[in-house]
Parts: sequence; C-alpha cells; structure tokens
Amino acid sequence: MKRKIASILICAAMVATMIAGCGSKEEPAASAPAQSEEPAEAPAESEAEEPAEAPAEAPAGDGGLVTIGFAQVGHESDWRTASTKSCQDVFSEANGYDLQFVDCDNDSAEQLNAVRNFIEQDVDYIIIDPIVSTGWDTVLTECEDAGIPVIIIDRTIDDSDKYVSWVGSNFKTEGLAAGEWLKAYTEAKNISEVNVLVIEGSTGASATIGRTEGFKEIADREGWTILDSQSGDFTQEGGQKVMESYCKSYEGKFNVVVCQNDNEAFGAMDAMKAAGVSYGVNGDVILISFDACTAGLEFVMSGDITADFECNPLAAPFVEEVIKTLQSGGTPEKEVYMVEHWYVNEDILSSIEVNGETQELTVVTQEIIDAQY
Ligand code: AHR
Repeated sequence: MKRKIASILICAAMVATMIAGCGSKEEPAASAPAQSEEPAEAPAESEAEEPAEAPAEAPAGDGGLVTIGFAQVGHESDWRTASTKSCQDVFSEANGYDLQFVDCDNDSAEQLNAVRNFIEQDVDYIIIDPIVSTGWDTVLTECEDAGIPVIIIDRTIDDSDKYVSWVGSNFKTEGLAAGEWLKAYTEAKNISEVNVLVIEGSTGASATIGRTEGFKEIADREGWTILDSQSGDFTQEGGQKVMESYCKSYEGKFNVVVCQNDNEAFGAMDAMKAAGVSYGVNGDVILISFDACTAGLEFVMSGDITADFECNPLAAPFVEEVIKTLQSGGTPEKEVYMVEHWYVNEDILSSIEVNGETQELTVVTQEIIDAQY
C-alpha cells in the first residue's frame, strides 16, 4: 500500500551544510560546498547496490517495488550519459525499484509534461534534473498537493523550494576555480595578456549560470578581456559551430578558450584544428573545460585540454540515501554537494586558492582515467 508523505516536504525544510573535501575516485562522494573541508561519508557501496529495505508503511508500489519517475534533461553530453547510467544502475528492479525514465531532450515543456505524467501515475518519488532553473513553482506545488516527494539532482531551481532534497554541484565554485587556476597558470607561464572566448552551456541552466558567474568574477577582478560568450548548448556540435565562428571573428586575438563542458571542448578542438589554431599545453591557446569525463581526462593527459574542472554525475547513490531516509520516516539533508576535483596536465602548480580556501590540483594519470565515469 502506498503512503504519500506530504508532511515530509515541510519537515525537510532544514538546510544542512555537509562538510566537504576531496573524495576518492573509487567511491562517489558528496558534501558541501565542493572542495571545502571534509568529505561527507559516501553511502557504502553495498547500500547503493542492495535493495532498499522498505519498512511496512513505506511506499512500495506494484510488486513491492518503490516507483520513481525521473525527468532527465536529455542526452546532450558524456556527463549526461554517466548521470543516466548512475540512476538506472541504482534504481534497478533488482534493487527494489521501478524506474520510469523520461529523456526530455532538452525541452522544458516536455520536462513539465513528464512530471505531470508521473503525478498521474501516482509514483512514490519524483526525481528532476531541471533543464532550466525557473518556472518550477506551479508543478512542484502540484507534486506537493499529490503528496509525492520531489528530489532535485544536478542543476538547481531558483523559484521554488518545494522539494525534499537537492543533490548536485556548486557550479559557481567550478567557475571560480577555473578562473583562479587561469590566474595562477598565466602567472607561472609569464603570460600577461589574457583574451578569453567563452562557449557557454545551455541558456537558463544553472550549470551555465554558475560557471559563467564564477569565471567572470575572477576575469573582472584580474582585468582580463572576455571577447565573446555564446551558447554551445553543452553539445559537441554546438561547441564546434561556435568555435568555427570565433576563429573567423577573432583570428589572432584570443589566447584562452573556456568551454563549459567536455563535449563543447571536443567540438572546439576540431574547429581550432581546422582553422590552424594550436591549443593545449604546447599550443597558443589555453583550453579550459568542465566535467572531466573519461574522454575529457584523456585529452588533459595528452595535453590538448589544459585544465578540466570536474562536475560529478554520480548522484544516484546519494538520492537513494534520501529515499531511504524518507522511507524510514527521517528528514533528509536539504542540500547535498558532490565532491569534485580539478584536473591538470602539468605539475607546475599544486593548488589554487578559491574563496580563501586552498584546493588541490590533480595531475591526470592513466589510473585516474581508468577509474573515471
Ligand atoms: O548540468 C550539468 C551539465 O549538463 C554538464 O556539465 C554538462 O555536460 C551537461 O550537459
């Protein structure tokens, strides 16, 4: 029998600041905010793999399975593929779940429809990775009225707090870290002129907003020139298209390219190669990326991407912890931050200062690549 837990949404109003730090690559870790202090304890691997133990009164839909609707952003990037796989692995039937997965193909209207269909289906929990950060309060109120707890992953929502928990990354910290690294790197390499081209992620996504804000804060402080900043929609094709046009419009004028995810960086590399622009640790252009998925790290190791700022997609084990807490009548943390690493090719800097805090830089090795998602 299903039990809908409207009151949980109220109980869960507690904002928890979990202590952060660097987690190991073997176990995904979450904490708050990225790379500060100590890591929150990652759920034990066995917990992520074992079926959720449902107390008698806990939601357990047809066949005793806990039903979950997951409205995923789409399939635009390697990061997204890893995020989807993380959820499908954890919320499997063998683990006691019936996962209704919807790929929203980066269409916000489609995502709202998916959530409303989950309400119709009367699922036990709804997971949303919000394509954009606004326009959520009405549908989240509908979830609340239906007594279905909502868990937000990855990107944030700006205009509603009607969800139980959010598990994701501090995107502004990622952008600040990229800026602080560039400052330290250009100083170490005696580069005095910094002329930047930015390829942003999808418009309206909190990942785009946070990374843009964080990097710009350092650029403004250091007096760098941001020549242009256009959306590549977090795709390889988008990154390539924007970079092709940048190569024509800003020929010989830029020495830094910031791509807001790895797939955009792959496209930008193709465009620069075609235009005869050299990039990476031995090239004329410093190439910065975000995500640090396997293929991104391979390009860091080969020296093509100069630095890659991780965005950890393995949120599902922490979402399962939230669900288990709810099932046992507890109050989950309102915010859970993923632990992330900053990856570089060269051993010329060991750390950077971000928000007054020392954060380590990790030189990519084959071992790290093999353990990455
Ligand atoms: O929201 C996370 C971002 O979305 C990742 O950086 C990007 O690769 C994805 O598409």
